[in-house]
Amino acid sequence: MSGTFIVFEGCEGAGKSTQMRLLSELLQKRGAAHTVTREPGGSEISEAIRKVILDGRFTAMTDECEALLYAAARAQHLADTVAPALARGEIVLCDRYIFSSYAYQGAGRGLPRKFLEEINGYAVSNYMPDLALFLDIPPAQAFDRKHGVDEDDRMECAGEGFHARVYAGYKRMLAEFPETFVAVDCSGTKFETNAKIAAMLEERGLIPRA
Ligand code: TYD
Repeated sequence: MSGTFIVFEGCEGAGKSTQMRLLSELLQKRGAAHTVTREPGGSEISEAIRKVILDGRFTAMTDECEALLYAAARAQHLADTVAPALARGEIVLCDRYIFSSYAYQGAGRGLPRKFLEEINGYAVSNYMPDLALFLDIPPAQAFDRKHGVDEDDRMECAGEGFHARVYAGYKRMLAEFPETFVAVDCSGTKFETNAKIAAMLEERGLIPRA
């Protein structure tokens, strides 16, 4: 793995896609080769798994099945998209990674961390991000920003209590992985947040300076 692996994490509506787009534009301007991708999805097979996981009709899906499908999508996406881009020496910007499984399936659904570490251990082998950015905005505020819940999305419909547990789970991980999992204060405008993110990545030598 010779490239740089940067992950974006956060609750629904935290602004991950906007921040990934702004960072991608900045990298483009600076002539840095990069790949923008997402989980679950980011490759043909993983996008097919994504449809199954998020399908609003599948209310009977067990928590274990859900966790295994996320891990399965992750394994395939890593092999198809992330690992090849890193091998080419690119910067990979990935929307969500294992921290999402620990927050949503662990803190949110209540699955044991040991089970999640084990299945995700198979999925990611030694591919850990150089940095995972947690876009820190509480779920209630984030849902307001995105004008409510998408009724066709099984995860978004999981309820306020669930999303509050996910957020708390993310916050706990900041102390658990202080080197790789860091919070970004998102209370300013999207451009202010973008500038904060760029500065954090430049300081760590993960992206080229202007
Ligand atoms: P995403 O497309 O990032 O949703 P959004 O853009 O609305 O934030 O992710 C899809 C959903 O999958 C989201 O509700 C978070 C959830 N998820 C997990 O529960 N576990 C995981 O491991 C991952 C990657 C995502």
